[in-house]
Amino acid sequence: MTVVIAPSILAADFARLADAAAALESAADWLHVDVMDNHFVPNLTFGLPVVQSLLAATSIPLDCHLMIEDPDRWAPAYAEAGAAGVTFHAEAARAPVRLACEIRAAGATAGLALRPATPVDQYADLLPELDLVLVMTVEPGFGGQTFLDAMLPKIRRTRDLVRGRDLRLRVQVDGGVSESTIASCAEAGADSFVAGSAVFGAEDPAAAVEGLRRIAEAAQR
Ligand code: DX5
Ligand code: ZN
Repeated sequence: MTVVIAPSILAADFARLADAAAALESAADWLHVDVMDNHFVPNLTFGLPVVQSLLAATSIPLDCHLMIEDPDRWAPAYAEAGAAGVTFHAEAARAPVRLACEIRAAGATAGLALRPATPVDQYADLLPELDLVLVMTVEPGFGGQTFLDAMLPKIRRTRDLVRGRDLRLRVQVDGGVSESTIASCAEAGADSFVAGSAVFGAEDPAAAVEGLRRIAEAAQR
């Protein structure tokens, strides 16, 4: 699978989101949008109206990561609005297969996100219904946290499950991904990389994206 780098606008200036997107227009594959509701995670960011404005402001495909309760109710609207990908949390979804199906029917790819304590194996039979599995490499809620090395076996396990079933799912990692951690993720089998502080904390965000891409491509399993 080709490497996908998805800068997370959680680390951008919320008053200048269009500028943040514009700076990455020719560098980022996807723009990662962390929707948080103050209930599923102890942080509050933005929701559908901001996503709709971003869709009008950038041509970078939006990768919406919903850290919200009741995604069964709220997630399909992000796909209907035009998000390229909609990822919901396994721990929050009541009917993940039905929800993935609704997201796909609305024209987006469907992703299943796993908190660090959630094993992937119990979702193995759902993989054919999905386009992406997001292995969280920090506890969701905040940017700038330290990468959890303990998640590497889960990345590897997810890639093995995908390969074993001959599927073409993406394996995404999110949290603490930087120039010093991205190689081990790629080696373990990740092909899609979310990076917040490593991109927006850099002097030249577009150059940071290219730097991460080079390291991931060289290390890919
Ligand atoms: C955390 C979010 C991440 C966050 C990553 O809950 O899901 O997407 O932006 O930020 P960094 O890359 O700074 O760890
Ligand atoms: Zn995220």
